[in-house]
Amino acid sequence: MNYLMKNYNPLSISFDNGKGCYLYTKNGAKYLDAISGIGVCGLGHCNSEISKTINRQSQKLIHVSNLFNIKNQELLAKKLCKISKMSSAFFCNSGSEANETAIKLVRLHANNKNLKNSKIIVFDKAWHGRTIATLSATGSSNAQKGFKPLLSGFIRCKFNDIDSVKKAISKNNIAAIMLETIQGEGGIRIASDNFLKEIRKITEKKDILLIIDEVQTGMGRTGKWFSYQHSNIKPDIITLAKGLGNGVPIGVCLGNNKVSKLFVPGSHGSTFGGNPFVCAVASKVIDIINEENLCKQSKIMGDYLISDLKERTKNLDIINEIRGKGLMIGIEIYKKNTNIVKDCLNNGLIINLTSENVIRLLPPLIIKKNHANFISKTLSKILKGYSNEK
Ligand SMILES: Cc1ncc(COP(=O)(O)O)c(C=O)c1O
Repeated sequence: MNYLMKNYNPLSISFDNGKGCYLYTKNGAKYLDAISGIGVCGLGHCNSEISKTINRQSQKLIHVSNLFNIKNQELLAKKLCKISKMSSAFFCNSGSEANETAIKLVRLHANNKNLKNSKIIVFDKAWHGRTIATLSATGSSNAQKGFKPLLSGFIRCKFNDIDSVKKAISKNNIAAIMLETIQGEGGIRIASDNFLKEIRKITEKKDILLIIDEVQTGMGRTGKWFSYQHSNIKPDIITLAKGLGNGVPIGVCLGNNKVSKLFVPGSHGSTFGGNPFVCAVASKVIDIINEENLCKQSKIMGDYLISDLKERTKNLDIINEIRGKGLMIGIEIYKKNTNIVKDCLNNGLIINLTSENVIRLLPPLIIKKNHANFISKTLSKILKGYSNEK
């Protein structure tokens, strides 16, 4: 541990192997993973089809660079454009990089229009990454602490408050609005349908680009391929990562027709981005989500888990609200500084807390009722210990 920089504060437990919804320590202790590596392993751990693809492609070709035409990249771009109805893709290696790409596209859009001192609207409690540009877009003073000077050019509005957006638009040259339809790190805060529809209406009218950050919400997590699809809107730019590679690092920025013309040869790039290996894996992830109907499954199991959790915890005064879509679920509690994460671990359950007091559940999309029952039984037992009404 002494050879690692001190930016993480990991729990002392270490996992040796995983299968499906479970992680195991070296001596065989079993844990139900209800966070999936922070929303990454949607197909569960060591999915056998993914492992086969990894084996096969690793023996065929891993990397050649974007100096060459990469067939797997083209194939993956085609699949992603089909499910998102976007026109083109740029591949990179993480959610932050996908958002960096989106921000660069916005700069090109604004500069092409000669928009002076252009700004991007972002929201309170947003999370878009940790590179300097995406950290500047992120709405967490904790994450930003010590990293000034941040990048200028962002205006922060109130999430779900269309008047604050309208006001910012009336006073500035806005080139884009960037948002998560469900804020993950921000505490599972859900954008209302109305808010999203109003935003799309204004952005269309004023030639403002709409970027939806689907890094955490995408790939079936909320019960549809992408969470904006719940509101029947179509963004100009979508960013994706996490669940796209099921653990193999990949990010992508997808753009519609308007956006697709902005990059020209040389304007952006990535050495690793879109290599034959990661693209083969991500292609397989899409196929499996399709074949196993995992978007629908995510909705069914998410609805089940939320209603079971509500039922089991209805008399507990520690609960403020249980909310979510599909298998992206937050349980907001009234207490901060609890030991709930460790209590769950001691009971064989892996969860995580965001925004200090929101228990976040992002279980694999493949969970069945027995897994959901274990999650809600264990959590309700532990939450009871923190409640007065028992
Ligand atoms: C919505 C959202 N955008 C961007 C990111 C950054 O992704 P990465 O950590 O892969 O850079 C995250 C990470 O949690 C995220 O939740």
